[in-house]
Amino acid sequence: MQSELNLNVRPRRLRLNSIMRQSLQSVTLQRRHIIVPVFVCEGQKVRRPVASMPGIDQMSVDVAGDYLAGLAEKGFGAYIVFGVIDHEKKDDKGSPALDENNVVCRLFRETKHRKLPMLAVSDLCFCEYTSHGHCGVMTSDGATVANDVTVERLVWQAVSHAKAGADVIAPSGMMDGTVGALRGGLDAAGFADVAVLSYSVKYASGFYGPFRDAAGSTPAFGDRRSYQMDPARDAREAILEAKLDVEQGADMVMVKPAGPYLDIIAAVRREVNVPVVAYQVSGEYSMIEAAARNGWIDRDRVVLESLIAIRRAGADMVISYFADALAKLVP
Ligand code: PBG
Repeated sequence: MQSELNLNVRPRRLRLNSIMRQSLQSVTLQRRHIIVPVFVCEGQKVRRPVASMPGIDQMSVDVAGDYLAGLAEKGFGAYIVFGVIDHEKKDDKGSPALDENNVVCRLFRETKHRKLPMLAVSDLCFCEYTSHGHCGVMTSDGATVANDVTVERLVWQAVSHAKAGADVIAPSGMMDGTVGALRGGLDAAGFADVAVLSYSVKYASGFYGPFRDAAGSTPAFGDRRSYQMDPARDAREAILEAKLDVEQGADMVMVKPAGPYLDIIAAVRREVNVPVVAYQVSGEYSMIEAAARNGWIDRDRVVLESLIAIRRAGADMVISYFADALAKLVP
């Protein structure tokens, strides 16, 4: 005999059959939503694995060009480039950042020359170029990064990236007033059509550890807490940062990291009317990758789940290191 509850609503009805389940999916994830990070270094035919990010390599300009051409063919629509600079070239002001012939500018020229149908995004910051590894010029007492002189130098860096072919400039240094200064500087230099994607909401996060290994940008002393945000502040600070950047002319805003900050992505999404990008950072990548390599989790499932969650929270696009996995998983 069958015992029956008298239920009007049985949510499981919509889960019982796979066609039903698929038809009801409203959150999508496609290759065109992904911005692919690349670490570009000096040399030729160089492909150097990053120990703390298994599956990710530093690449010389020629190798990175081939790699990106392959991804463009598969339908990935954007890349963001980080320069790996030889240590001897770095100084306390980050001078190699302003060299129009550095690896970052060379990669922009290379992908434009190849006419890759991909947006070229430039991570605008000094931490990869300074001998001390901080995100700009230090104050005279060495206590923190000097805001206004750093902003001035960021404008020069942005113009050199735009000249080399960057379509989108993404300032990641968390200096106040960066976006307004960049917009003015880019316009004055004839680059009114170059977009600004601001890393508006960037937390001082332990999840960046593997990246600093990949980009050689670990601070030689101290940490970034005097310019990056405190994870223990609530969403109102994030909203303030995002709105300030939109007022100054940001075309898009970013939240970073992504997975542990879904509440922040959702809050920013509600409060601004420009596209929101989220950055699934190196530590998020390496944790999933390490567990998968140990056989503790199913990589494909977790990669998809982690990225769907970020899209569900409200991200229009996601910077993610999982391009190779996604090329097999999503259209
Ligand atoms: C700064 C920058 C960082 C990351 C992206 N841009 C490092 C930092 O702020 O310390 C981290 C990204 C990641 O962890 O994947 N140029």
